[in-house]
Parts: sequence; C-alpha cells; structure tokens
Amino acid sequence: MEKNEIEKRIAELTKILNEANYNYYVLDESKITDQEYDKYLKELTELEAMYPAYANENSPTKRVGGEVVSKFQKIVHEKPMLSLANVFNEEEIFDFDMRIKKEGVIPEYVCEYKIDGLGISLIYEHGVLVHGVTRGDGVTGEDVTHNVKTIKSIPLVLKEPISIEVRGEVFMHKKTLEKLNKERKDNGEALLQNVRNAAAGSLRQQDSKEAAKRELDCFIYYLPEPEKYGLKTHFETLEFMQKLGFKVNPENKLVDDYVGILKYIKKATEKRGKLSYEIDGVVIKVNDLDMQKKLGFTAKYPKWATAYKFPAQEVLTKLKDIIFTVGRTGQITPNAVLEPVIVMGSTIRRATLHNEDNVLKKGLMIGDIVAIRKAGDVIPEVVEAKVERRTGEEIPFQMIKECPMCHTPLVKKEGNVDYFCLNPECPKRNIGALIHFVSRDAMNIEGMGDEIVEELYNLGFINTIPDLYTLKDKVKQIIEFDGYGEKSLNKIIENIENSKNNSLERLLFGLGIEGIGNKTAKLLASTFGDIDNLRKKTEEDLQNIKDIGKVLAINIVKYFKENTELINKLKEIGINMQYLGVKQKYDEEITGKKFVITGTITDVSRNEIKEFLESFGGITSESVSTKTDAVILGSNPGSKYDKAVKLNIPIWNEEKIKEKMGK
Ligand code: IVH
Repeated sequence: MEKNEIEKRIAELTKILNEANYNYYVLDESKITDQEYDKYLKELTELEAMYPAYANENSPTKRVGGEVVSKFQKIVHEKPMLSLANVFNEEEIFDFDMRIKKEGVIPEYVCEYKIDGLGISLIYEHGVLVHGVTRGDGVTGEDVTHNVKTIKSIPLVLKEPISIEVRGEVFMHKKTLEKLNKERKDNGEALLQNVRNAAAGSLRQQDSKEAAKRELDCFIYYLPEPEKYGLKTHFETLEFMQKLGFKVNPENKLVDDYVGILKYIKKATEKRGKLSYEIDGVVIKVNDLDMQKKLGFTAKYPKWATAYKFPAQEVLTKLKDIIFTVGRTGQITPNAVLEPVIVMGSTIRRATLHNEDNVLKKGLMIGDIVAIRKAGDVIPEVVEAKVERRTGEEIPFQMIKECPMCHTPLVKKEGNVDYFCLNPECPKRNIGALIHFVSRDAMNIEGMGDEIVEELYNLGFINTIPDLYTLKDKVKQIIEFDGYGEKSLNKIIENIENSKNNSLERLLFGLGIEGIGNKTAKLLASTFGDIDNLRKKTEEDLQNIKDIGKVLAINIVKYFKENTELINKLKEIGINMQYLGVKQKYDEEITGKKFVITGTITDVSRNEIKEFLESFGGITSESVSTKTDAVILGSNPGSKYDKAVKLNIPIWNEEKIKEKMGK
C-alpha cells in the first residue's frame, strides 16, 4: 500500500470503530455486528503494528489497554472538584428549596440519579482526550488517562474539535461485579466489596489491560465552565455534552418545583433495583446558570445543588455467634458473626459490636434474628434483635474475662468501656502491631496481607517489626515450611526492602504510638524533619504545635523513652528516618494557627500573605470566630475587626506580618 493509502485506511477504520463504539456504548444501539467490529479492529491493529508512525494516540485500539504506568502523576484541578451536601428527608429538601427561593427567584431544578461510582474529570484539547483525572482530595487528583481510554463510553475524540473539561462518574455495572467476583472466587482471590470500590480499584490499575477487563462505564453530568460555550441552563449543558458524544444519563429530568423533586425521588426509588448500575440517591441542581453563579459555593459544596441520599438499607439475618478479637493495643472487641447477607451490593459476614456495653444495651443473644444496616460506605451495623422471633434456644451474651489468645485476665481501664489484654507478649497484640506496620497507610508493604503476617508469626519467622527485614534470609525455609511460591515471596521481600525508603510519616504511623493517626504522623514528620529531632523534644515542645494536646505529647515522649532500642535497631537496618516531602516550615506563632485578614496592607497582596502563612502550615479563613487565632489588620478594615475585638482575638498589625515576611 502507498503511504497516503495507509494513512487513509487507518483514518477510515478509526472512524468506523469510533462510531460503532459510540452507537453501542453511548446510544445503546448496534449498527454493525460483533464480527464486523472485530474484523475492523484486527485490521487496524495490524496496520498500526506495521506502520507505527501512523498510529494515533487516541486510536480505538487503545481501548483494549496495554499501557503500563509505574506511578500516577498528580494533577491539580483547574477548578476544585467539590462534593455535594446531603439531605435525607422531605423536610431537608424543603429547606433546600426555601434557601434557593430566598434569593428572590422561583427556581426550576434538574433531578439526576446519584451514580455510585467515582468522580472523574476529562480534559480534551482540540477535541482529543488528553487527560482523565480522578477527584482525589478535590484539589489534586491522579492522572489515570491510560485507564480512562479503556472506558468505551468515553469518547477519545469529540464530535467538535473544541477544548473542554467535563466531569462525570465512572462506575461498574452490577453484572460486571458479579462476573468478576465469580472469577475471583474460582481463583481463590479476595472478592471486590462493592461497585464503587471495584470501579476505584480498576481506575488505579497500573496496567490498563487490567482496567479494560473491568468494563467500566461513565455518565457525564457537569461542565465546569458553561459560560465559555454560551449556555444558559444546566439542562442545556447536559444536552450540549451529549451532542459532543458523551454519555449523559437519559433519566435526568427538568422539574418545576419541590413537588416535582419528590415525584422524581419516588420514581427513582422504585426503579433503583431494576437499574443495571447502583445509585445511592438523587442529585438536585438549580437549572438556571446565572442563579447558580449567584448562589455560589461554600468551601466544600455548591450551594445550588444537593444530594438526597436513599435511606440506609436494612436486612434481617441470623447472629450466629459473637467472637472476640484482640487489637494491637490489646483492646478486646466483640464481633457479630452473621449468616452472610448482601446489603447495598456487598456481602456482610461480620460486624463490629464495639464493646460489652453496646451488646448489653441492644440486648443481643446468640441465635437472634437481627437487623443489619448499611448506608453507602458506612461500616455495617447491627441495629437490633427481633425479639418477637426468638425461639427460646438463644444463648445470652457473656463478656469474656480472659484474653482469648494468651488467657491473661482482662482489665478495664478507668473511665473506659473497653477491656484490654495488657500482656506485652500476647501473640494477637504482636500480630496486630505487625499488621498495622505493613498496612497501606503505614509502611505500605504490598502483598503482605493479614493472613500472611499471622502465618509467618505463628510459624516463628517474625515476632517483632525488625524481623520483617530479616525475612530475606529465610526465603528457603519459608518455602519449605509453607509452600509459598518463590516468585510471590520474592516480590514481597522486594516490597519490604523498598519500604526502607519510605518517608518518615509512614514509619511514625506504623510504629503504632498511641493516639498517632496518619495525619498526626505527617504533622510530626513534616514539622521535625527526622526522627532524632523528634525524639529529643520535650512534652512542652510538642504541645507548642497546634493539634498536639497534652495527652498526645505525653504518649510520644513516653514511647520514645521506652523504645530507644527498637528505633536504633530500625535505623541500623537502614530504614529511612527522614521526612521526604516538602518540609513544613515551622513558626510557633503560625504553624497550625487560623488567621483572618482584613483591610489593605500596603505593598503586600492578600494572596502573598495567604501563601506565606500557608507555607508555614497556617490556615486562613474568611470569617472571624472563636476558633480564629489572630486577625491580620490592614487599613480600612471591615466588620471583621469589630468582631475580633468583641471576641478578644489577638490582632497582628501591618508591621508584625511584614516583619515575619521579611518585607
Ligand atoms: S454533581 C459541583 N451529579 O457524588 C457538582 N455528582 O457525593 C459536582 N455524583 O463528588 C457533582 N452522581 O462524584 C453530580 N448526577 C451527579 C452525580 C454526582 C454521582 C457524585 C460525584 C460527587 C459525589 C458527591
């Protein structure tokens, strides 16, 4: 074939396949047969392989995946991806409607299904998909373009060559989850919990071939900059996006008023079970875009929209047993063992019963029929026993007196509802500590699941944290003992070795110091930079940091005093003890404190001050409250100044802030 013929044929095939995808995945109607589709796809794949110079970045052949990324690039959203405020009943919907009406206009609303998936931002340049970015924390997301390209309802090329950002929800169909879980069960793999987790996990695959297998789908529901395209209402933006080739939910509906919203919710509730995908509520949006603009946003939510969440689903099942687990701190927790039931798309087998008081208050007996409740991502809860269904065979609950593992008598700490096993040698406590150390938010040692840790502990290969790092010398013995695959074991060992390079906050969290969650660990790491600096600090030093209270300060000092040997040993092993992120600059008067700026300050812009304070971990907010630590006062201040005086809040004058900034 001639050069230009090849190019022409590639373009032709691309067009045919793109159109076929669009018809099938967006419009839900096939115009060519599967065989024809496969034939064209094969031809295009072969042509691209032979003439890679003509292969297009956004060719439909990319839909099957194959691109592998080692790390997800972080991308800051042009405009933050906000969440939605929730309402749970008619009264709250009424209040929402009233708040909107207060603005003096009678609004029209668009009602949409609230799709249970995860938010995505799609960026097109001159009509070509260039980025697919997850919501992340709303400000920064992850670039998952390679996986997004495998979602067939997302156009790789738009019907118009425009540059645009749209947002929507990536989700997995219920049937797909069932199919994947069946395969996983057959392979002895852990099951995917629900459609949302499954979709999120799929988008975070490093190999897009894996993502392609997950058959994700996507509805588009939001255009961040509608004014650019001369649109006047939200409903018009939906139509506009549909015309560009996006899949927009046909169930979206324009309603006149509050009554219309309630009718829509009623219908959605009825239809919910019959849909091929999960919805967890209804989103209500003001239709008029000028009005949306007028209503604006809070820091987290648009004020012009709200999400009605369906009530938590309750199902009945049998409480087969109550068993006790020992946490890494020695805390004893009663757990309900349930006859497996599906609630909101996930199978529930266990539910925490928290503590003895909770079980007694609910009057649970073993053998009871109990109501289980689950709402979205909320942990399942045992609501109550159906007393009327008792047969007389139920067994009363009794709290245990000894540790179920090491039989040490349990103790209840003063003022605490929980019982503890205080034996420092208790195997369950040690196992718990190891599981915590390797967990995702701690040292993130992939492949080292709870069962493996427990097994290696029980076989005597690991006892304490440093032992993890000696596993590499025991590979042969482990394989002999337990028949682990050499390859998978070596991968775990490699991950353990790599964890030595983690930034300090992971280690600090992983050590399991009482009261230190991953946020505090990050705060400590970024403030003090390395562990030696941190362990030198006194209780007073630590309390100077905002968010570190007295109890936490005591715990930290006590921990380092009692664990010098462990820390030294970990250091010797070669575990990094330094903070590798951008070091938080520290200033006693700024770090962790809340500021409000009012009035004008000569030669320094408000933004400069804001950035300066934030670079020291300070927070700025718009309104003065009792939580404000200082008000920065320029000339011609507003009412914020009066409020600060009233609340007795320290005032920083121009000189003080300029001096801090070195101006
Ligand atoms: S609109 C600025 N519409 O629900 C408005 N969100 O709980 C942005 N969601 O973060 C959101 N279906 O990921 C909107 N029809 C829909 C939605 C929807 C699902 C998700 C979205 C959002 C979350 C908030």
